[in-house]
Amino acid sequence: MDTKVTPSASLPVDRTYWNPDVDNALLCIDVHQETHDVKTFTFVSRDGKHIAFSAGQYFAFDAGPHGDMETRCYSISSSPLRPNAISITVKRVVGGKVSNWLHDNLAPGAMVQANGPLGQFIRPARLDQKYLFLSGGSGITPVMSMARELADTALPVDVIFLHAGRSPGDLVFRRELANLATRLKGFRLYFLPETLTGEASWPGLSGRISRDLFQLIIPDISGRVVMCCGPAPFMAAARKISAELGVPTENYIEESFDGAAIEDPPLRIIDQAEHKSFKVEFSKQSRTIDVAPDQTVLSCAKKAGVKIPSSCSNGLCGTCKSKLASGTIDMKHNGGIRQREIDAGFFLPCCSRPLSDLVIDR
Ligand code: FES
Repeated sequence: MDTKVTPSASLPVDRTYWNPDVDNALLCIDVHQETHDVKTFTFVSRDGKHIAFSAGQYFAFDAGPHGDMETRCYSISSSPLRPNAISITVKRVVGGKVSNWLHDNLAPGAMVQANGPLGQFIRPARLDQKYLFLSGGSGITPVMSMARELADTALPVDVIFLHAGRSPGDLVFRRELANLATRLKGFRLYFLPETLTGEASWPGLSGRISRDLFQLIIPDISGRVVMCCGPAPFMAAARKISAELGVPTENYIEESFDGAAIEDPPLRIIDQAEHKSFKVEFSKQSRTIDVAPDQTVLSCAKKAGVKIPSSCSNGLCGTCKSKLASGTIDMKHNGGIRQREIDAGFFLPCCSRPLSDLVIDR
């Protein structure tokens, strides 16, 4: 039989790719309710470009009420092997301005501004690598992207995926993960609800992560690369247990956006004559604070109660990006700002120290 295969008209040919240096407009094409307080938003590039990224990376979204937008970082939950669209999965946070705005307002057809992909939470991709994916709550998104990527490659894997949540009803991607575990060889899945509220019967584990639990279900943890994302207490416990059970530091990789990493310079006696502080004015908030030359603008602003949105506190995510109206700074960023933004007068307060008095447009 002579069978001719013709390319589908819907398959892209010579597709151009999203350029993080110039592209920032995303069109929402789908909203999906995952759990009672978690939604997945799917976007395509406004002009149909494919978006290349690594599983574990994130976008910094500018979103919120008109005239009062803020920047928040959301990890991509979709597979990088399906680059025609990206998805983020957002939990509604009590009092969270951006998460609530997204849940209540973002609908298919809406455009949003987003910078990315950003971030270094990327798994070492050796073919024979054994992994432990550990996630708590909505921290599942970057490791879900990794799991989906591994499923899409259709190659053999050795993955233990342990996902913890408040209750069975809070376990994001529960059905999809269970389905994936039934067909992806070498993929072992454990759900760990803390309580069994709302579930008539629960056949599996419950409680919190512990050394005993890890020894029971991950006896070979010391030979695995651990990729961990979740709330700070969850990650602190996971880090401690993993180290106790022999996971080398370089094989323990974690992601956090809780801003806990703002550095506090060590307390020391300052010779005022030698180390004068600079005046840093936040023009929109009518506030002026003192910042020493060895302190970052963000750490001092936070202590003084000046409002600057922030996330990574490490020059990575771009969340704190601000306009410098006057003055000079010493900025050591990690990719969270583009050269054209610096040329336009923007800077990242989280990784910038003053070299003069400053006026900041915030
Ligand atoms: S808070 Fe992430 S770059 Fe400043």
